[in-house]
Amino acid sequence: MAVELAEPRRDWREEILEAKDPPERVPGTYSRLAPVYEAWARVTESKARRRVLELADVHPGEQLLEVAVGTGVQLVRLAHANRGGRNVGVEISDGMLAQARRRVEETAPSVELLKASALELPFADESFDLLVNAYMLDLLRRDDIPRALAEFKRVLRPGGRLVLSNMTKGERRRQRIWDWAYARGFVVTANCRGVLAAPVLGELGFADVSREYLSQMLFPTEIVTAHKEER
Ligand SMILES: C[S@@+](CC[C@H](N)C(=O)[O-])C[C@H]1O[C@@H](n2cnc3c(N)ncnc32)[C@H](O)[C@@H]1O
Repeated sequence: MAVELAEPRRDWREEILEAKDPPERVPGTYSRLAPVYEAWARVTESKARRRVLELADVHPGEQLLEVAVGTGVQLVRLAHANRGGRNVGVEISDGMLAQARRRVEETAPSVELLKASALELPFADESFDLLVNAYMLDLLRRDDIPRALAEFKRVLRPGGRLVLSNMTKGERRRQRIWDWAYARGFVVTANCRGVLAAPVLGELGFADVSREYLSQMLFPTEIVTAHKEER
């Protein structure tokens, strides 16, 4: 696993592909994928999920938000680490939200789940200590990536922590097969393509931006952590 300091001024827009799916199609696509999504995630994302949990370093009693919870697997783990805290999840796809609701009812009933977009979070400024978001920026159009991250910054309290995991650009040739296929119109990664969040966080004035890279089944992931500056 490589750990590196983020380069704050990288021209990230030219380095990543544009999203093919228009934003209005994403919720429907994910409602259709919802019944099989966990099978995909188990083989491509389980390592990253474990690392996100470590880096989130949840302190019981926190105000915690996960954006784009999907089937809710990671939110339940976060909530179990955050006993006595507030645990909230948002998701835009009805199918994914239904899976998450079932999981939460069975295993973490105090978790709050809402249907909402990352681009317009229904929370007051500075509401959360910790915000987690996984494999969602890699679905957004290039111009929406800074919009979503600015919205994350708005709802974090000063000093609040952000932990992101995204499909990213493969660092080895074999790991670039997914973006190669995406660019040629083959949909094999649940419509994700590689993105780079660290330079965007730098542009938005997040502090302590740091990035790790890992791959699982040749699927390349970046895990990016940052803080919102204290006032
Ligand atoms: C690849 S899945 C990842 C789900 C979950 N975070 C995980 O890691 O298992 C992407 C999720 O992002 C959701 N999503 C996409 N765009 C969104 C948006 N603008 N706001 C909230 N959720 C969104 C999709 O509906 C889908 O559930």
